[in-house]
Amino acid sequence: MVFYRFQPIKLNRFMALTQFEQIKKLLSEKIPSELICFLPGKWEKIGDVLVIKLHTNVEQYRDVIGEVYASVLNRKSVLCDTGGISGMYREPNVEVIYGSDDCETVHKENGVRFKLDPMRVMFSSGNMDERRRMANVSNNEEVVVDLFAGIGYFTLPMAVHSRPKRIFACEINPVAFDYLCQNIVLNNVTDVVEPLRGDNRKVAPKNVADRVLLGYFGNTYSFLPTAVECLKNHAGIVHYHDVFSDDVVPDSVLQQVDKIVEKYRRKAELLKCKHVKSYAPGVSHYVFDIRIG
Ligand SMILES: C[S@@+](CC[C@H](N)C(=O)[O-])C[C@H]1O[C@@H](n2cnc3c(N)ncnc32)[C@H](O)[C@@H]1O
Repeated sequence: MVFYRFQPIKLNRFMALTQFEQIKKLLSEKIPSELICFLPGKWEKIGDVLVIKLHTNVEQYRDVIGEVYASVLNRKSVLCDTGGISGMYREPNVEVIYGSDDCETVHKENGVRFKLDPMRVMFSSGNMDERRRMANVSNNEEVVVDLFAGIGYFTLPMAVHSRPKRIFACEINPVAFDYLCQNIVLNNVTDVVEPLRGDNRKVAPKNVADRVLLGYFGNTYSFLPTAVECLKNHAGIVHYHDVFSDDVVPDSVLQQVDKIVEKYRRKAELLKCKHVKSYAPGVSHYVFDIRIG
């Protein structure tokens, strides 16, 4: 009998490290060793742009940190998230720490191309599951109104994968609206999506929709009457997003919706309550699929 003695394959030891281990190894030669534990182990990849959050202890090394993260993760620019997303336009608070100021990129996800500049408009990796879900909830017999379309976060996957008869996509932020228009062309859905620029309370078409998307948070409640008025005969499905205290979900949310729809002599039925992501301790972003009929 012949016994083969296997020689361990001589792997490049660097290759066997995870990307974060590679980052820490490279930076251990450039920043004090006691600060390595403050490096971010999570990041967002938006096309060829990387977004990271830096602990104050390592902020003074941001240039070299940006350079190393860009090289290991193979991105052209690195942005530092300095204050999350804010305002009615949901604008990101970010600064370039590596690469060019021109951060326009095309992010590909689930067969959809999202062109955007992550310095000017938001893109939340945490909402990916919801973007994928919205891709398949509609069908070619429906008319949909997206009240908060942004660059097409939900409109585009839905148009590409479900091809409804029509999606009316409302957006108030001129920068996001411009990307929305470009993305409609980029994804070959000009025959499906009609972009409408302005405040959805004024521009959204009334009495047309089978389904209305309310992908916003802050005071989404105040947009429920607009959503109901978009629905054909005030009946259909709404996807209602907001941030809620975990202990009031879903009962008091449904009561809230019921109060609005009873003015239209309708009732709200909860089809699904989905936790999208944690927002703060005890508070989360939820989406409710609600049938109004
Ligand atoms: C950024 S999206 C929310 C994120 C999205 N749901 C996701 O999954 O990533 C919200 C958009 O609604 C827009 N918006 C806010 N108020 C609006 C209004 N009254 N009418 C139309 N668009 C509005 C903002 O400009 C923003 O682009």
